[in-house]
Amino acid sequence: MSKVIIQFDTTAKYLHWVSALVILWASISGLYIAYFELESNIKSRILSFNVSITTLFIPLFCWRIYYRIKQGIPQAHPAMSALEVKLAHAGHTLLYVLVSLVLVSGVLMMDHDVNVFQLFIIPQLLQQPSNIHFFETLHLYTCRLLVALIVCHLGALIKHEMMGRRILKRMI
Ligand code: HEM
Ligand code: HEM
Repeated sequence: MSKVIIQFDTTAKYLHWVSALVILWASISGLYIAYFELESNIKSRILSFNVSITTLFIPLFCWRIYYRIKQGIPQAHPAMSALEVKLAHAGHTLLYVLVSLVLVSGVLMMDHDVNVFQLFIIPQLLQQPSNIHFFETLHLYTCRLLVALIVCHLGALIKHEMMGRRILKRMI
C-alpha cells in the first residue's frame, strides 16, 4: 500500500480540533442536561456557559467555512475508492450544513437577551412565541441529527484505521 500521507494544513487542523471540542462539549453536555436529573443551579450554569461558548464559536465557524472554500482540501487518501471519496465529501458537507443550522436555530430560539460571558449582549432577535418555538424545535432535531452524523464520522474513521488507512494522520 502507498505510504503517501497528504495532510490538512495547520490552520485547517486547528479549526477542525477547536470546532470538534466545542461541538462535542455542547452536544454531550446539552443531551446530558436534557435526559438526566441535575441540580437546577448546575443545569442553568452549564446552559448559560454553553450559550456563551457556542455564540463565540459562530465567527470561528464562519472563518472555517470561508477557509475551506478558499483553500479546498488535500488530495484524497490514495487507498480510498471513488465512491468512498464521494461519500466522505457528502458527509463532510452535511456536517457543515448541520452545524450552521444548529448555530442559527440556537440564536433565533432565544427568548431573552444573551449575555456572552458578561462581555457583550446579543439581543433577543425574535419576539413571536410561535417563531421562537419553531427554531427551538429545529434546534432540538438538528442537534440530534448532528450527533448521529458525528457518530458516523467517527465510525468511518475507525473503519479506515482498522483497514490500515491512516486517515487520522491527515488531521493531526
Ligand atoms: C455548536 C453548536 C451547538 C450545539 C452542538 C448545541 C447542542 C445542543 C444540545 C445537544 C441541546 C439539547 C437538545 C435536547 O434537549 O435534546 C441544546 C439545547 C439548547 N441550546 Fe444548543 N447547541 C449549539 C448552539 C447553541 C447556540 C448558538 C445557542 C444560543 C445562542 C444554543 C442554545 C440552546 C438552549 C437555550 C438549549 C436548551 C433548550 C431547551 O432546553 O429547551 N445552542 N443545544
Ligand atoms: C474526536 C473526534 C474527531 C475525530 C477523531 C475527527 C477526525 C477527522 C479526520 C481524521 C478528518 C480528515 C478526514 C479526511 O482525511 O478527509 C476529519 C475531517 C472532518 N471532520 Fe472530524 N473528527 C472528529 C470530530 C469532528 C466533529 C465533532 C465534527 C463536527 C462537525 C467534525 C467535522 C469534520 C469535517 C467537516 C471534516 C472535513 C474537513 C474538510 O474536508 O473540510 N469532526 N475529522
